[in-house]
Amino acid sequence: MRVTLLINLVYIASAIMFIYGLKLLTSPVTARRGNFISAVGMFLAVVVTLASEDIIDYKLIALGVIVGGLIGGFFARLVQMTQMPEMVALFNGFGGIASLLVGWATYHALGLYNLFIMTTLFLAVLIGGVTFSGSIIAWGKLSEMITGKPVLFRGQTILNGLIFVCALMGGSFFIANPAEGYPVLIGIIILSLLLGVLVVIPIGGADMPVVISLLNSYSGIAACSAGLAISNNILIVSGALVGASGIILTNVMCKAMNRSLYNVLFGGFGAVTKEAGASFEGEVKAISPEDTYYILEAACSAVIVPGYGIAVAQAQHAVRELADLLEENGAEVRYAIHPVAGRMPGHMNVLLAEADVPYEKLIEMEEINRSIANIDVCVVVGANDIVNPAAREDASSSIYGMPIIEVDRAKTVIVLKRSMAPGFAGIDNSLFYKENTRMLFGDAKSSIEAVVSQFKSV
Ligand code: TAP
Repeated sequence: MRVTLLINLVYIASAIMFIYGLKLLTSPVTARRGNFISAVGMFLAVVVTLASEDIIDYKLIALGVIVGGLIGGFFARLVQMTQMPEMVALFNGFGGIASLLVGWATYHALGLYNLFIMTTLFLAVLIGGVTFSGSIIAWGKLSEMITGKPVLFRGQTILNGLIFVCALMGGSFFIANPAEGYPVLIGIIILSLLLGVLVVIPIGGADMPVVISLLNSYSGIAACSAGLAISNNILIVSGALVGASGIILTNVMCKAMNRSLYNVLFGGFGAVTKEAGASFEGEVKAISPEDTYYILEAACSAVIVPGYGIAVAQAQHAVRELADLLEENGAEVRYAIHPVAGRMPGHMNVLLAEADVPYEKLIEMEEINRSIANIDVCVVVGANDIVNPAAREDASSSIYGMPIIEVDRAKTVIVLKRSMAPGFAGIDNSLFYKENTRMLFGDAKSSIEAVVSQFKSV
């Protein structure tokens, strides 16, 4: 009794640390501390759980911790920043399968069946299974192991609906007849795994970050259900926190792309061939690093707009160096951050933090748009869709209505990219043809370094 009380008291402390940690994660200044506090909370929770009288085999647990810890640690060190969404997809998948296994094992461990436990066990298995196989498909799409294109076929939604209804009917039978329900439970596991695959294949690889965020939420709900099934308070709390924050993040991402969740899940975005080849008025004006230097040298205010290409080129340190030189030259330099720039939430913030760019220089889209017409130069580094005026001007465009950083309204825009190729959304960009735009073609890092060396040579 005393041990249970102690465990629950530590669980409460851990839950407080999780919530406080999440609060600190809301600002880049405190995020590191928030992460640490939450991790300590989880460590304490794991340690006291091991003191529980219900533990059956410490050797197996130790083996799991060592093998899992080594694999996790090894891959976390190895993974590139650009591969982080894949890594998160795998984490979610493992969270899902863990909940499924907890649910499954609980069925065998129970001597006595009750309605509540059976219902939560069923939910843990169903949601955990969908999360696992869906996350594996998401990982496969992002790592290009399988096609990133939406896989669509006739009657897909009906088939998915039928499988879901079968799983629910199986679940009702299982809950009502737990003693004879084991084969049905196995059937539910198979259906859940199938459903996970079928719901994720119609979604384009590029929409995967949103799906991963949603699957993250599912993994939390599955963990919460598993926690209810085994009456583990900290699993219930942490699962609920993951479930809720995943849904909130999904919503934020959908809003920033001006897409509904329904459109992401069922829209097959990217299935149609690219809209490239649109004709725009005006001509593309290439610029050299030397001329870029002259423009920047004369600027009093500059805004750097990073996008996915800065991550590909790993140009963040060079960008920081250029910004320092501009400031030394008397210009005010800020960085405009679009909420879905790059390929994962906070992608640009992480990259710029890596180059020690001060947080106060990072400006949100709405704020910069208010004063962008007064900016002398906007330097667009490897960004495309997030600065595409089609979102404002072309009602037929697939990104119409998406909020963008309105760099075309600045006095001069310099766009750094390698070619005229479209970005993630696969559409041409009228910005490149505007009167006030100059294109500095080439790898972003090399281009910036060339401009930096111009500054240094004078
Ligand atoms: P994109 O529109 O994908 O454009 C990136 C540009 O970077 C490309 O046009 C590419 O042009 C250029 N690039 C690539 N490698 C480069 C290099 N080494 N040097 C210089 N340029 C390089 O990226 P964005 O503007 O950041 O927009 C993000 C897109 O991703 C949005 O459409 C958003 O909806 C979507 N999305 C984002 C998220 C999250 S959470 N961030 C999630 C899902 C979807 P070149 O090939 O010509 O160089």
